[in-house]
Amino acid sequence: MVVIPVALSGRSYDVIIERGVLADLAVVAAGYLASYTKSGRKVPFVADTNTHSIFHEAVEASLAAANVAIDWFVVEPGEGAKSWRVLEQLTDWLLALGVTRSDHVFALGGGIVGDLTGFACAVTKRGCGFVQLPTTLLAQVDSSVGGKTAINTGAGKNLIGAFHQPSAVLIDPIVLDSLPDREMRAGYAEVLKYGLLGDAAFFDWLSGNGSAVLAREPEALEHAIATSIAAKARIVAEDERETTGVRALLNLGHTFGHALEAETGFSDRLLHGEAVGTGMALAARYSAHRGEMPEEDAARAVTAIGDSGLTARLSDLDLSCDGAKLVQHMLHDKKMETGTLPFLLLKGIGKAYLARDVDLGDVATFLDAELAGS
Ligand SMILES: NC(=O)c1ccc[n+]([C@@H]2O[C@H](COP(=O)([O-])OP(=O)(O)OC[C@H]3O[C@@H](n4cnc5c(N)ncnc54)[C@H](O)[C@@H]3O)[C@@H](O)[C@H]2O)c1
Repeated sequence: MVVIPVALSGRSYDVIIERGVLADLAVVAAGYLASYTKSGRKVPFVADTNTHSIFHEAVEASLAAANVAIDWFVVEPGEGAKSWRVLEQLTDWLLALGVTRSDHVFALGGGIVGDLTGFACAVTKRGCGFVQLPTTLLAQVDSSVGGKTAINTGAGKNLIGAFHQPSAVLIDPIVLDSLPDREMRAGYAEVLKYGLLGDAAFFDWLSGNGSAVLAREPEALEHAIATSIAAKARIVAEDERETTGVRALLNLGHTFGHALEAETGFSDRLLHGEAVGTGMALAARYSAHRGEMPEEDAARAVTAIGDSGLTARLSDLDLSCDGAKLVQHMLHDKKMETGTLPFLLLKGIGKAYLARDVDLGDVATFLDAELAGS
């Protein structure tokens, strides 16, 4: 078992990584089940139809051992679940169950279930507890930790939300066995991100072991998850609410990536992690274009992204837009500060920094060349 503390004043919690933790939930999560075991009430679990159908029997069997039954709230997979409509249904459901502030709600799924459940718990009775049981690689290495919760609106993704930390994050790497390879690669982009942004040794390790991680070889997979979470925990502990610029480092590849997601209509054509992968390759190449990152380092970043099966070359996405249109999408990103567009760029592998002097005309010209594959 690996235990990684997320140290936050008054809101500290542990991330536990252990194969089989889901089957052992009644023991590992006993503290969060206590209010239900005492009262005989059912435990609220949120899942999507995929995670419910794959894992409900195992979880129910695990809790039955402690004489606890589950009440399920099951959403359709996809971003549609992060909506006012589903949030209303979920909060109504929690209130009807009589959830109190000292209760915990369990989120069993990827980042969508986690973000929705976390936000519902942030606002129900002004804040009840929740436990993350992340089932995608992206959720295990990124979204389940750090307390960002949100839903989407017509104005954009994740624009309505709250910082609400989970009480615990319980990661079972075994659940990734059923995750489609494409989702695995999308999550791997976020793993590579931690190496690129601040840990050159981890990046080197991934260059030799990335295929083992993607193949879900236990030792490599657990090392990748633990190293990623430790990095995220350090960053979140330093800048929980993204006010000092430290947490913003986690957005490496996201400004370019956001433009690609917007251009492809936030559709299945490009998953979030896939957009981040291509976005990081663009951040590396743009940093080299500005003369800030050695060409050799940018090439290594691009190779690592391409070797994992992610699209490292913008021209391979076959977009029918120009660089100026992609810059327009970036300007609509919520991460834009008034009058400026901060970019996460690189001075080398493991050396990300926030650049505030980026000329958007230059970015558009750079992107035109990337779109043309030149
Ligand atoms: N809160 C944060 O800090 C943060 C960070 C990054 C991303 N996000 C959010 O996370 C969301 C994306 O999350 P995601 O990539 O996990 O996607 P997701 O939750 O949509 O899951 C991807 C797909 O995999 C399926 N699935 C999940 N676990 C499975 C398993 N073990 N086996 C088989 N299928 C499984 C799901 O049903 C879904 O179809 C986005 O909404 C994004 O905004 C949040």
